[in-house]
Amino acid sequence: MSKVLVTGGAGFIGSNLVDQLIQDGDEVVIVDDLSMGLASNIPSSSKVTFYEHSITDHNFMQELLLKEDFDYIYLLAAIASVADSVARPYETHQINQEANIFILETIRQHNLAIKKVLFTSSAAVYGNNLELPKREDSTIDPLTPYAIDKFATERFVIDYGKLYNIPTVAVRFFNVYGPRQNPKSPYSGVLSLITQAAKHQSAFTIFGDGEQTRDFVFIKDVIQALCLLTKGSNIVHQVFNVGVGKHTSLNQVIQVYEQIINRELQIIHKAERVGDIKHSYADITQLRRLGYQPHYDITTGLKLYWESL
Ligand code: UD1
Repeated sequence: MSKVLVTGGAGFIGSNLVDQLIQDGDEVVIVDDLSMGLASNIPSSSKVTFYEHSITDHNFMQELLLKEDFDYIYLLAAIASVADSVARPYETHQINQEANIFILETIRQHNLAIKKVLFTSSAAVYGNNLELPKREDSTIDPLTPYAIDKFATERFVIDYGKLYNIPTVAVRFFNVYGPRQNPKSPYSGVLSLITQAAKHQSAFTIFGDGEQTRDFVFIKDVIQALCLLTKGSNIVHQVFNVGVGKHTSLNQVIQVYEQIINRELQIIHKAERVGDIKHSYADITQLRRLGYQPHYDITTGLKLYWESL
């Protein structure tokens, strides 16, 4: 049994991680201000303590870190909307970067004996780099405050780890999808928007010809990767892509969905989104070397997502 802190534990990815940790018998502390997450995502279990609090509150975070002897820390709390980071660059920076550095600084100053700190970054750091597949050492081209903060924090996490002997790792998520993904914003992940349209029998808008591809990775594979990089290996001070290593077009996704729901989706075509990248997928060799094996292809993943509604 381990004691685990999950910041952002009420969110889509965080709450799925919490479920897994509880299943593993861990004791979990969640810090989440519910700005993006939902209290209803948090499992009711005596093993979970939930603090509705912002990670930007230094006093609170410091007290918590000193009070509890955490074995593992997962840094998932973030403003996950790129558009929001463009609209509020300084505020999102305080959450996406500064608050995380303060956590590292607290660990450093107080010599906290943490087994692993994992930071969650994004494929957004590759920006418009056209190289495929994206390798962890591919050219970085962060184009928005969101991507800049993710990349800078990744570096902080890795280099703090090296400089001050803190066991840290970072991951770059590709297009994660699955149960509890929030479809509320127009900038939500495309699979949550398609799912929403299928559920409400409303129209789904494809921007462009639908031939753009992404590396869609089901939440359970993501959780597998997170657990592997923390409890499952001694690896430290490295960054890992988290995807499936395959690319699927939106048109293919729609075909799969139509088979699952056994009817046609209503599709509208609009102009390509400005700044949209055409293709993206991950090279997951590094993660595979540690034993990671994605188990959910798009058909299986979408079916489970659909059935979870
Ligand atoms: C994702 C991230 C973004 C990050 C980028 C970096 C999400 C929601 N977005 O963007 O933050 O900067 O990776 O790799 O995780 N689409 C439609 N109709 C819709 C919505 C989207 O056709 O209603 C299209 C988009 O134009 C795009 C594709 O679907 O071509 C995927 O869109 P999206 O899910 O937003 O992900 P990314 O563009 O990969």
